[in-house]
Amino acid sequence: MAQEFSRRNLLFGMGAAAAAAATASPALAYPQRLLAGLDGKAAATTTVDGVILLSRNENAYGPFASVQDAMRQSLGRANRYTFPPDYAALIDRISRLHGVQQNQIVIGAGSTEILRMAAEAFTAPGKRLVTGHPTFEAMGAYAARRGAEVTTVPLTATYAHDLDAMLGAARAGNGGLIYICNPNNPTGSLTPASDLAAFARQVPSGYVLLIDEAYHHFANGLPGYAASEPSDSVMIARTFSKVYGMAGIRLGYAVATPERARQMSKWQLDNNVNAVASQCGSVAMDDKTATQEATRRIVADRDEFLRQAKTRNIDVIPSYTNFAMMNAGRPARQVIDYFARNKIQIGRPFPPMDTHVRVSFGTPEEMKRFWRAWDQMKTARLASSSENAIAAAAYQWDGSC
Ligand SMILES: Cc1ncc(COP(=O)(O)O)c(C=O)c1O
Repeated sequence: MAQEFSRRNLLFGMGAAAAAAATASPALAYPQRLLAGLDGKAAATTTVDGVILLSRNENAYGPFASVQDAMRQSLGRANRYTFPPDYAALIDRISRLHGVQQNQIVIGAGSTEILRMAAEAFTAPGKRLVTGHPTFEAMGAYAARRGAEVTTVPLTATYAHDLDAMLGAARAGNGGLIYICNPNNPTGSLTPASDLAAFARQVPSGYVLLIDEAYHHFANGLPGYAASEPSDSVMIARTFSKVYGMAGIRLGYAVATPERARQMSKWQLDNNVNAVASQCGSVAMDDKTATQEATRRIVADRDEFLRQAKTRNIDVIPSYTNFAMMNAGRPARQVIDYFARNKIQIGRPFPPMDTHVRVSFGTPEEMKRFWRAWDQMKTARLASSSENAIAAAAYQWDGSC
């Protein structure tokens, strides 16, 4: 099941013929560069079966060298359930970073598990989730599964969350959860810090606000962004999948008040975090030099991406993340299929932004291939608009970022 799911994600975006051909091939070749990375240092998986992955907002450079060393060591603990001292040290490390008590931290198998716990704890039939649109879909999916009413509020013209409309939608409901992704996935945009802080003070009673800061490091220090503070009505979610390059290790956390943390952790799976994650999360956070370097490199990649887009007069939403959303001027599905045929996987469709595509930043080499393919798109045969309409109609969120 898990394998089928990941193959589906990998093939996502390929045209039907390309997908069928790939499905018929034997199991995906194991990525050579990953093997090199575990033997030596710093090499990371960027391609699988020759496909460049610019689709899931991962970190193309992989975990820090210090973390890779720790990973090798932690494998020796794989015969044990999560090693309690590592887990406690990780909680301590995170609580010190945020200047809070240890009982204000909830650890998850990725921040996805944090979102899931929040949906379980704070939504229910008769309760409401208020969320932006488009935004990261996981929270909406989990709240819907819980039987809550999901109210989506379109982003503003500048791709910020429409806080007034969200407040109105919350007041019209009967309590539950408000979800704000800042910076937002898939648009890469900010909801201004001062507006968000004012909003956080007005959260209607019966609601909890979860602010998802998955892309914090790439916005930190830029005007208009500030990390949020936990309060009785505000919780924060963070992940190790982005700047730390640990998406496959599955580690994330929430910062909340002790009471909110307790309510969430009732829904936490026992032993939810594996031995590698619980040891290596602390090592990643402690490696400040590598964290700064990883941030600097991705910010440089973003600057270069925006420069390339500008020379081509492409309309890009200002990005505060490790990806950018841009207007391709033609149906997104056609562009996604075109890139898939060229062995480059870009982000999935994000209705209602039907001509926008989301591109995660890869290594400079990969981005050269991306731009070369982009330039050749002008003369390529793209799927007809009727093929495109069929594919768009069939679109359903598949659980990916
Ligand atoms: C906004 C946002 N939140 C959460 C996640 C899930 O991340 P994790 O790997 O920590 O589960 C993603 C993944 O890209 C994301 O974009």
